[in-house]
Amino acid sequence: MRRRDMLKGIGGAAAVGGVAATPVAAQAESQSLPPDLGPYGEPWAPADPDVPGRRGIAPMPDDYFTPNRFAGKTVIVTGCARGMGRGAAWRLARAGANVVGVDWLEDQGRATMDEIAAAGHDVRFVAGDVSRDETCARMVETAVEAFGGVDAALNNAGVMDGVFSGEPIDYAAQRDLVFAPVHEARRPRRRG
Ligand SMILES: NC(=O)c1ccc[n+]([C@@H]2O[C@H](COP(=O)([O-])OP(=O)(O)OC[C@H]3O[C@@H](n4cnc5c(N)ncnc54)[C@H](O)[C@@H]3O)[C@@H](O)[C@H]2O)c1
Repeated sequence: MRRRDMLKGIGGAAAVGGVAATPVAAQAESQSLPPDLGPYGEPWAPADPDVPGRRGIAPMPDDYFTPNRFAGKTVIVTGCARGMGRGAAWRLARAGANVVGVDWLEDQGRATMDEIAAAGHDVRFVAGDVSRDETCARMVETAVEAFGGVDAALNNAGVMDGVFSGEPIDYAAQRDLVFAPVHEARRPRRRG
């Protein structure tokens, strides 16, 4: 069963459960319990008597990737230092990809890619700001030189605001820079 269908199953059970005020209604809805979710669902704790079959969504198991799915492929991942880019770089490497990670948080980005390399994967790190042409040229050159080309790029680095990602959060000082409409978005001001 596809993960998407599993999640829809959970949502459906939760939605029906929300109106289950009586034992009769609860019994009727038990007919539409979600299917067994295997490792992706876990019992609601403590059990919810109003929502039979209610489950939590389990964290992704460590083995939720397809070995060799990207074997021999080279993927550039921008914004690899942290967050979703870091997760994607790990996942792609474990699925067999050669990964070129890019980030302007040089120490953090290098540390991430070093960790992935230490686990036995073939990766490279390029430090730089992806809004600069020279960074983009270097990441492609690195992929070509190290792995012979580029098969895919996960253009994950991006900002919805004008705050440099290495800057600590300080809402009072930064509020004029956060969540600007697209037509007002500015290049993040890098400090320090
Ligand atoms: N987390 C969310 O809920 C969410 C929702 C919608 C969209 N997004 C988008 O997904 C992407 C990743 O989100 P995240 O939560 O993992 O963000 P994050 O801030 O944790 O990570 C972003 C990474 O990109 C790097 N980066 C940003 N601008 C860069 C630049 N110009 N050059 C090089 N590196 C740069 C940062 O240093 C950081 O390591 C972003 O584009 C974000 O806008 C995130």
